[in-house]
Amino acid sequence: MAKGPDGKNTSGRGLRDLTVKVKTARGRKASSTRWLQRQLNDPYVQRAQAEGYRGRAAYKIMELDDKFRFLVPGARVVDLGCAPGGWCQVAVPRINALGDKGGKAQGFILGIDLQEVEPIAGCVLKQLDFMADDADMQVKEWLGGKADVVMSDMAAASSGHKQTDHLRIIALCEAAAYLAFDVLDEGGTFVSKVLAGGAEGELQKLLKQRFTKVANVKPPASRADSSEKFVVATGFKG
Ligand SMILES: C[S@@+](CC[C@H](N)C(=O)[O-])C[C@H]1O[C@@H](n2cnc3c(N)ncnc32)[C@H](O)[C@@H]1O
Repeated sequence: MAKGPDGKNTSGRGLRDLTVKVKTARGRKASSTRWLQRQLNDPYVQRAQAEGYRGRAAYKIMELDDKFRFLVPGARVVDLGCAPGGWCQVAVPRINALGDKGGKAQGFILGIDLQEVEPIAGCVLKQLDFMADDADMQVKEWLGGKADVVMSDMAAASSGHKQTDHLRIIALCEAAAYLAFDVLDEGGTFVSKVLAGGAEGELQKLLKQRFTKVANVKPPASRADSSEKFVVATGFKG
């Protein structure tokens, strides 16, 4: 039976259909009411609460890793945009970051975010704007060597302008990719959030030159009405 980050069983049994209807309220915008209604009725949000994950994003990396198997015992992982920590929580047992899986190599996670992150056993968590000058140098110093996985779920706060948001997320993804080129060991994996929308062609071309395989995936946990998808590049050529 699957277990959550606290070691409890997470079969989902006992979860009832608790569809919540949110009433409109004075002073609350219709879009906020819709967001609240969707959030309260999202099965992944309910599952994350029941299973002890810090957010529904945890299921995205879980589903990507179930498909591509990059979070293996002993892996050295950089998690960019890691707050509140769902991806880290998923990675800890998979890479054996606590070293409690007898006979298996112990992994390492360095999590970076603009925001402070509540401690997670097995992770080194640092607050940093990854787009600041020399941020990559700082990350390399904290890392202190090579990595097997660079994963990024970084997303800037929405500006409300689709094209601007798209360009911002591509800039974050490109910055993450350049760190990956710098720190990945041969055979390493790069995973990053992107948004479907046109400007990602150059990045895809670059990734195809540097990795054996580049896949674009929308895991089931990624909301169908969002243009978010993930690029998973495996087999770094060095
Ligand atoms: C969708 S959340 C990440 C969720 C995370 N993967 C999890 O499972 O909890 C996106 C994060 O990217 C971070 N972020 C955005 N721009 C960043 C930057 N320039 N440097 C570091 N983090 C950034 C945000 O602060 C936010 O916490």
